[in-house]
Amino acid sequence: MKVGILTGGGDCPGLNAVIRAVVRKGIFHYNDEFLGFLEGWRGVVEDKTQALDLQAVAGILPRGGTILRTSRTNPAKREDGLNRCLETLQRHGIDALVAIGGDDTMSVALKLYDLKVPVIGVPKTIDNDLSGTDFCFGFDTAVSAATDAIDRVHTTAEAHNRVMVVEVMGRDSGWIALYSGIAGGADVILIPERPFDIDEVADTIRKRHARGRYFSIVVAAEGAKFSSEVDTQHGSAIVQDLGKDEFGHVRLGGIGAVLAREIERRTGFESRAVVLGHIQRGGSPTAFDRVLATRYGIGAIDMVHRGEFGCMVALRGNNIVSVPLAEAINRTRLVDQDLVNVALALREKVGRQAKPAETVESAR
Ligand code: F6P
Repeated sequence: MKVGILTGGGDCPGLNAVIRAVVRKGIFHYNDEFLGFLEGWRGVVEDKTQALDLQAVAGILPRGGTILRTSRTNPAKREDGLNRCLETLQRHGIDALVAIGGDDTMSVALKLYDLKVPVIGVPKTIDNDLSGTDFCFGFDTAVSAATDAIDRVHTTAEAHNRVMVVEVMGRDSGWIALYSGIAGGADVILIPERPFDIDEVADTIRKRHARGRYFSIVVAAEGAKFSSEVDTQHGSAIVQDLGKDEFGHVRLGGIGAVLAREIERRTGFESRAVVLGHIQRGGSPTAFDRVLATRYGIGAIDMVHRGEFGCMVALRGNNIVSVPLAEAINRTRLVDQDLVNVALALREKVGRQAKPAETVESAR
C-alpha cells in the first residue's frame, strides 16, 4: 500500500518515534511505500511532500520536534481546502493516510473520512486532553520538564523567602499542572477545570508562612481561571493575544505574572513568576513517551492493514486499541477526580475555602 503520514498542530516529543515505527513496520512487514506530507494539513492542501524511507527515519527516535514539520492549518478554513486535499491524495495514489495530532488534527481527519478518505489518527498532545485514550505521547516528557523546573524553582524560592509561581501549559485541562505539581510538591495547584478564589490562595500561603515555611510554590496551568463573583464556576482565562488561529484558539499566557502580582499585593510576600512555555514541548522524549509513541505507530500501521479507517489508535489501561475518531474529539478530557483527590489529601485546610474542589493544594 502507499501510505501518507503527516504531523499537525503543536509539536511534541515523540512525533518522530511514531513516524519511525509506522515506516519500519510498514516496510519490513507489509512491503508498504510511504510519503510524508509537510507541515500538517498544509502539506496536503498545497501538495508539499517528502519521501519517507528507511534512510529518512534512521536516527530519529530520540529527536524532539518532527522531521515532517507541523502547522495549525485547517483545510476547512482554506478556499476549497478539503477538495484540494482529496486531489493531492489522489494525485499521489495514497491508499491510506496516518494523521498524527491532537483534537484539531483529528477533526480534519474525520471530515476527510466522511469524504471517503481512508484515514487513521494517532493521538498527540502534551496537554493530554484528547478523549478516547488514557495517555497521549508527549505528556510524560512535558511533565518531566515541568517537574525538573519546579525542583529548581524550589531551592531559589526557599533561599529568598519568595513565592514562586510556575506557569505551565494546559489550555483546557490541568494534566501537566496536576502531575508536575504533585511530583514537584507544589503548595498550590491551579487548573482550568476549577476556577480559583485568589483570596483563598493568599490565605493558604499566609498560613504556610505562619507555621514557619517562608516560601511557597504555586503551579498554574495557562488556562487556569479566576472565579468571578458573578459566576464562580466560569471565570475567564488570561490571554496574550485576542487573535485566533485557524481552529479558533486564542493565545493563552500571562496567568503566572498576574498571580504573582495579586499574591504579593494580598500577602506582602515577595512573589515572582516563571513561564515554562515551549520548554515543555521541546527536547528528547522520555523513555515512556518513546515506547508509547512506538506502540502507537505500530498500532496505526496494523490498523491500516486491518482496514480500521475513521479510527484513532489509543491506549486503554495498558492495551493498544482503536476508537472511532468521533469519540476522540467529542469532548475535552479533563483531569481525573482521583488525581485531584491525591492533591487535596496533601493539603492543609484553610479557613476561607469556599468549596473544597475549587483550589487544589498540596504541601511538600
Ligand atoms: O495544544 C498544546 C499547547 O501546548 C497548549 O497547551 C498551548 O496553549 C498551545 O499548545 C500553544 O501552542 P503554540 O505556541 O504553538 O501556538
